[in-house]
Amino acid sequence: MDEINIFVGPAVHSETPEKITCFPKVAIAVKDGKIVDIAKDGDLKNLNQINVSKAKVINLDKGQFLCPGFLDIHLHAPQYPNIGLGYDKPLLEWLRLYTWPLEMRYGDVDFAKQVYENVVKSTLRCGTTTACYYGTIHEESSFILAEIASRFGQRAIVGKVNMNQNSFPEYIETTEASLADTKQFIEKVKALNNPLVEPAVTPRFAVSCNFDLLKGLGELAKKYNTYIQTHICESKGEITYTEELFPEFKNYTDIYHKSGLLTNKTILGHGVYLSEEDCKILSSCGTSIAHCASSNSLLQSGLCPVRNIWKAGVEIGLGTDVSGGGNLNILDAIRSALTTSIHISFTEPEYKPLTYHEGFYLATLGGAKALSKEDQIGNFEIGKCFDALLIDMNLGSPAGVFPSHDISDLIQKFIYCGDDRNIKKVFVNGKVVSGK
Ligand code: GUN
Ligand code: ZN
Repeated sequence: MDEINIFVGPAVHSETPEKITCFPKVAIAVKDGKIVDIAKDGDLKNLNQINVSKAKVINLDKGQFLCPGFLDIHLHAPQYPNIGLGYDKPLLEWLRLYTWPLEMRYGDVDFAKQVYENVVKSTLRCGTTTACYYGTIHEESSFILAEIASRFGQRAIVGKVNMNQNSFPEYIETTEASLADTKQFIEKVKALNNPLVEPAVTPRFAVSCNFDLLKGLGELAKKYNTYIQTHICESKGEITYTEELFPEFKNYTDIYHKSGLLTNKTILGHGVYLSEEDCKILSSCGTSIAHCASSNSLLQSGLCPVRNIWKAGVEIGLGTDVSGGGNLNILDAIRSALTTSIHISFTEPEYKPLTYHEGFYLATLGGAKALSKEDQIGNFEIGKCFDALLIDMNLGSPAGVFPSHDISDLIQKFIYCGDDRNIKKVFVNGKVVSGK
């Protein structure tokens, strides 16, 4: 029988977007990767669901606290070597000058192995317990990414990218090969038999796929009940190009809708320029948005009005969108989301900036809801998996931490000034996957 670990000390999590719930002292009992009991006052006598005398008690030190693991629901693993490059170019130019030339190299599986190990280790070190990864068009190396996530114990949704038009001749597939390789990819990822790692059907964006391919992918996703991930309404240039390529459709959203690609397991990256009508369709399909604020700024795509999308009933999580985004750490995605919302409010005074409470929610429970996984992860509730971070504000750059700072101060300091050095241990499904 698996041993029971009881973590005793301060903890924070989100129950609603509006306010982070802080526990000055809590006891969380974990068995077989799941939270089996919680004493909100930290008193072990109040743990009634378990035999405390048989459990291992882990007392947190001063300056430490627990928080739920982060979800990065949109990033491109193969683009990691390009981080920091090409931000003087807008999206479509950046794709051709920087992104596709790098992605083409992933036909080389040794190169893929080397980069993907680095990406998975680095995201885990930064506290990303769940990652939604785009690979490249290469089936073999995209599967290697899924295998590496599985081996390192990360919760991951992984996609082989599809592209059959408007790219270099050397970085394109035929429709038939694209569909056949995607089917093979899905079956191989499912055969890993690791419930933490799932395949996603991943058309790059409408520009890269003709309607036959989009429709075929919609059918594959339905047949295998997989996640779907793609990009939507990211930049003005991209939207104009898309509308030129698909004149028979009402708009960008309509292309995906008619392809059967909008489901309650679809995550759309960006959505900077979604209309109210688009949001209504997404909401009725249960489709979510990955808010990628760092990338939206660095590639000069625009300012995404999260609150308007939220109000329309669309679930939102955060994406680093590496390497469109310039940082693998979801703390950077939180800060970019907050800054973007402040900038919107300068020109739209009725738009209220996001609060740090909301930023933290988006990175945890909001992301879990966007993936329809809120029954499994996102916060500390009995029955959920223990995907958690042990934060230590004594480590790294101390950012002015004093003994008088309470847990509500520490979480603010972590959100605004923390980095991976403050993340002492990372747990996925109760297992330590990074740190000691
Ligand atoms: N749209 C299509 N492909 C990409 C990509 O790789 N990154 C971003 N940010 N947008 C895209
Ligand atoms: Zn992206």
